[in-house]
Amino acid sequence: MPKVKLRNLTHSYVDGDVEVNVLDNLSLDIEAGSFCAVSGPSGSGKSTLLNMIGMIDRPQKGQIVISGQDVLAMSERELVRFRGRHVGFVFQAYHLVPVLTAAENVAWPLYFQGVPRRKRLSAAREILARVGLKDQANRLPRRLSGGQQQRVAIARALVTEPDIVLADEPTANLDRQTAEEIMELAAGLNRDSGTSFVMATHDPLVLNYATRHLQILQGHLFEDKKPEHVHA
Ligand SMILES: Nc1ncnc2c1ncn2[C@@H]1O[C@H](COP(=O)(O)OP(=O)(O)O)[C@@H](O)[C@H]1O
Ligand SMILES: [Mg+2]
Repeated sequence: MPKVKLRNLTHSYVDGDVEVNVLDNLSLDIEAGSFCAVSGPSGSGKSTLLNMIGMIDRPQKGQIVISGQDVLAMSERELVRFRGRHVGFVFQAYHLVPVLTAAENVAWPLYFQGVPRRKRLSAAREILARVGLKDQANRLPRRLSGGQQQRVAIARALVTEPDIVLADEPTANLDRQTAEEIMELAAGLNRDSGTSFVMATHDPLVLNYATRHLQILQGHLFEDKKPEHVHA
């Protein structure tokens, strides 16, 4: 059974008096353990697609089944719980809370699952060590480099042990060397814990790491069967 099953998603936005069909009867299966890149020009709908998989946005038409559950049939309350257990997000701009330390940022999603503070923080420290930030756990985000902040964002996405991590342009604000380190980290986590990744990107570096490569264009998805042959 695929981890994510999208069926006939249709979604459009009205921009002035033009209607933009961002998703046009789009279907997609993502298997467990997938390391998948979605590319496409700016404005092609990459973020919209990620937001649909992450249940942040609802399509105007279609079906979304995650881990066998029809998520569009859930109440908002059920959805929040379900999302918290199944998906982690890594945003382009990291979205760290500036007044919280790295460990507190990472621990934050566990608060919503009712995990006691002490336990949340110890889980956060453990994950921070896994992403190479053992010694930075007590720092505020502004005292970390861009790459370190991105690692905190990845740690935060992983702390709930989600089946799937959605990363929206995860390398866009990073220098090349840091981008490569982040991709090594993500690929290692994918290999070792089987966490699926879906990454929206137009970075050739990310495409080189991805084992599955989709392109979104005019509301449709196209699959590139040989992503390993895509080079910068
Ligand atoms: N909340 C919104 N309201 C109106 N238009 C939107 C909204 N979100 C996205 N769009 C439009 O939908 C299209 C796809 O956007 P997006 O998914 O952000 O693309 P990408 O991430 O590939 O750059 C763009 O034309 C964008 O302007
Ligand atoms: Mg985007």
